[in-house]
Amino acid sequence: MDAFSAHSPISLEMREWAIRILGADTLEEKLFTPDILTDHDPGSPMMWNEPVRPPSMGFSKQRKEGKLPPFHSHDKQEHRAACLHRFAGHELLAVEIMAYALLRFPEAPSHFRKGVAHTLKEEQEHVRLYIKRLKELEVCFGDLPLYRHFWCHTPYLTSPLSYVSVMSLTFEMANLDFAPMYGHSFEKHGDERSAALMKRILKDEIAHVSFGWRWLQKFKKKESDWEAWKEALTPLLTPKRARGFILHPEHRKKAGVSDEWIANLQSI
Ligand SMILES: [Fe+2]
Ligand SMILES: [Fe+2]
Repeated sequence: MDAFSAHSPISLEMREWAIRILGADTLEEKLFTPDILTDHDPGSPMMWNEPVRPPSMGFSKQRKEGKLPPFHSHDKQEHRAACLHRFAGHELLAVEIMAYALLRFPEAPSHFRKGVAHTLKEEQEHVRLYIKRLKELEVCFGDLPLYRHFWCHTPYLTSPLSYVSVMSLTFEMANLDFAPMYGHSFEKHGDERSAALMKRILKDEIAHVSFGWRWLQKFKKKESDWEAWKEALTPLLTPKRARGFILHPEHRKKAGVSDEWIANLQSI
């Protein structure tokens, strides 16, 4: 590489980066990561009603998500692709909600903001990985409806505690059950590649839950972990949303979640 072909590293403030992500009308911009991220000037809290979306990726008019193809029909490529498309949509929402958190909580500890930014980059990578697999299954991201889902909760994300409770300890926590469940089904139907992708997602998700768990300890007051989390959920969520039909305690243990918490979740 000579001096002319090497691009100079792109440096961005976290705030600018988050605004670019939420205001982006191309997928490239949604998935853009600067070489260097700084956080010298987080600014004042900023809210967004709705993220800008690329033309084919707007939120579907139906507020409720349609049912995913049932497990017994995963022998059909198009049905597996429909599942992966939905998950890709969730990953893009995670990218946007994390950008939202960076704008909404400028006063949060800088270490916390760094962690959110790091997780956001991993969610961008998840979107890329799903898009790649979807292409192999002959589906383009944006071909099927995309839903508002997590975004409906943003008005209730009023503190970093509510953010970790809703995002890390409910939606990402539930994925510790859903990712392996879909992974096993894909594997059972001979789709090793999609199964491997779900394994990779699960591995990262454990780390994301662990991030939320550690910050719950720091943000909560004197109440128990379970009470603090339940209190911080939005009115649209019940504790049940933090688990699948089959609960995997081992993935939660890996994330550092306490036995008491796991037992509480198991009992609902
Ligand atoms: Fe993800
Ligand atoms: Fe995640």
